[in-house]
Amino acid sequence: MADAFADSFNRKIDYLRISVTDRCNLKCIYCMPEGGVRHFETSSMLTTGEIIRFVAAASRHGVSKVRITGGEPLLRTDILELVKSIKRLGARDLSITTNGLMLAEMAGPLKKVGLDRVNISLDTLKADRYKLLTRGGEFDRVWEAIQAAEGSGLSPVKINVVPIRGMNDDEAIEFASLTMEKDWHIRFIELMPVGQRGKWSGETRVTKAELIEKISKLGKLSLLEFKGKGPSRNYRLEGAKGVIGFISPISECFCQWCNRLRLTPNGRIRPCLFSDAGIDIITPMRRGVSDEDLDELFRRAVRLKPAGHRLKDNDFSSLSSMSKIGG
Ligand code: 5AD
Ligand code: SF4
Repeated sequence: MADAFADSFNRKIDYLRISVTDRCNLKCIYCMPEGGVRHFETSSMLTTGEIIRFVAAASRHGVSKVRITGGEPLLRTDILELVKSIKRLGARDLSITTNGLMLAEMAGPLKKVGLDRVNISLDTLKADRYKLLTRGGEFDRVWEAIQAAEGSGLSPVKINVVPIRGMNDDEAIEFASLTMEKDWHIRFIELMPVGQRGKWSGETRVTKAELIEKISKLGKLSLLEFKGKGPSRNYRLEGAKGVIGFISPISECFCQWCNRLRLTPNGRIRPCLFSDAGIDIITPMRRGVSDEDLDELFRRAVRLKPAGHRLKDNDFSSLSSMSKIGG
């Protein structure tokens, strides 16, 4: 595997997040409007072969960690083929972020073709509340999926929780206490001002400090060593098997550690989640771009990476929803 290619700020880019579809079988209230969003036309979305070709270019530049996201990635009928091919290209760490609705049946087959891990989005442990938050989702299916993922060896199972004031912030303790018995990672993700921002920001965002205060009622919470990788700051409750992580892009900006590049379903390389700037690869690919020129597009995208975002002082309401760019 090649050494990772560095950006203009000497950050080594070894992590690719691929949003394989902007479609979802849920409409979480902070992600999508009730009436849904306009989706990309199928013809304007990357095919299996195009995604794999881009991953090959990325792996020639030392990308060794790949995450498949959405929308809901398990809606792609070629998901097993994608996982298998990406693993074969040498992804050392290959994971999927999913809402879990279709995972119970898919966990075994996904593991078999080379998937290493899953992150499951789950914002509440109450079935009626889950239905409200996701506009119709069935909690039991997700709970079943978590067991299936664990049983299939897709571990450690990570659960993504977005705490929202007045909505699910009263469940921080229940989520945290799951780590006492299970080696799961519960990751509290700060609500980000993209997509549905108008309604879902500012005072609805729950801070890490507030969560830590609540969770500390369960016992001593110790900070684990930070290995300089990934946005999560991890803690463990005394005697717990699992880990509690906090991802706080706004209150604790981690841009200086950023090691990632994103690929959108319609074939744009997006150097930063918080900037709509990007490089189109689908058009050149469909016009027969050579591998050398595709490699150059990859390097150009890496060089485009900004030093960081300015979420605190800017308005990002115009940015696309997370389902279009992959959270
Ligand atoms: N802020 C924070 N997290 C979000 N996600 C989707 N939209 C937002 C937002 N506005 C999360 C989902 C999922 C992950 C991919 O991104 O809950 O866990
Ligand atoms: Fe779908 Fe994830 Fe958006 Fe929920 S947050 S609507 S599961 S893409």
